[in-house]
Amino acid sequence: MEFKHYPVMLNECINMLNIKQDGIYVDGTLGGAGHSFEIAKRLNSQGGLIGIDQDEDAIKTATQRLYNFSNVTIVKDNNKNILNILKNLNIESVDGILLDLGVSSYQLDNPERGFSYNKDALLDMRMNKDNPLSAQVVVNTYSYEDLTKIIFEYGEEKYAKSIAKNICKYREEQPIQTTLQLVEIIKLSVGKYDDKHPAKRTFQAIRIEVNGELKILKQAITDMISVLKPQGRLCIITFHSLEDRLVKNIFADHLGKCICPKDLPVCICGKKPVVELITKKVILPTEEELKNNSRSKSAKLRVVEKL
Ligand SMILES: C[S@@+](CC[C@H](N)C(=O)[O-])C[C@H]1O[C@@H](n2cnc3c(N)ncnc32)[C@H](O)[C@@H]1O
Repeated sequence: MEFKHYPVMLNECINMLNIKQDGIYVDGTLGGAGHSFEIAKRLNSQGGLIGIDQDEDAIKTATQRLYNFSNVTIVKDNNKNILNILKNLNIESVDGILLDLGVSSYQLDNPERGFSYNKDALLDMRMNKDNPLSAQVVVNTYSYEDLTKIIFEYGEEKYAKSIAKNICKYREEQPIQTTLQLVEIIKLSVGKYDDKHPAKRTFQAIRIEVNGELKILKQAITDMISVLKPQGRLCIITFHSLEDRLVKNIFADHLGKCICPKDLPVCICGKKPVVELITKKVILPTEEELKNNSRSKSAKLRVVEKL
């Protein structure tokens, strides 16, 4: 299947990165290299771009798309390993980092990857195919309590208990192997569903669990901020409220706001600002972009600059 992915808020990201021709940039979610191509185009021979993705299909596509740029290094790894990745490349600090979180349209639309509730396929949902934890492992081996917790916390699904109960009941008879088996179980478990597809929240929850998407964010972002040069920027696009809240809070932790009780005469928390918040107001896709790419609907861009 062809790798199709429309880069979300492309102009906004490029503007926010404040690209210097001779700067060093990291795209921590390379995907189909939509953003990376535009970054690489703006660099001269002194500049460099490091593109990271944990998905081998993304790595293959991006390698082809960026083939003509001599100053691009592509790394197949999890971006949570940013410190090691840069150390291996003998890079101490960088001028900007972009994270376009979540899955690509290619991953969602390719039935073989088992992410989609609209297409029948083996349940999988791994971005990194070497990861032993697939969606099948989650739905067939996790306890009722763990399934409920994940579906409730990561999917914000009010029918989490009922869905988890029916998953456990169904798998006593036969293993849950396909996306549409899971969709059927979910449809039986939920009441009348108004707006979205009834499986949307549960599929999101299982995907987040399989790929450890939220668990890695705090450390990854903290490490990324630590390797930014002064005035270097970290730009992050999120696609759902859990992710966005987490990014907002992690950024806030680095703004150095004193957390001492108000009645203390002097500050004892010692918090010092490490970054400045550039997006006082979160950036959203334009009407034009929303018309052209419905998947950008929930996207939010937040940016900080290293002091
Ligand atoms: C939304 S897509 C990025 C699309 C890209 N910006 C473009 O324009 O083509 C997210 C990509 O990041 C990768 N990804 C997500 N989390 C990752 C992580 N923690 N480490 C490495 N890659 C990750 C996914 O495999 C996917 O290819």
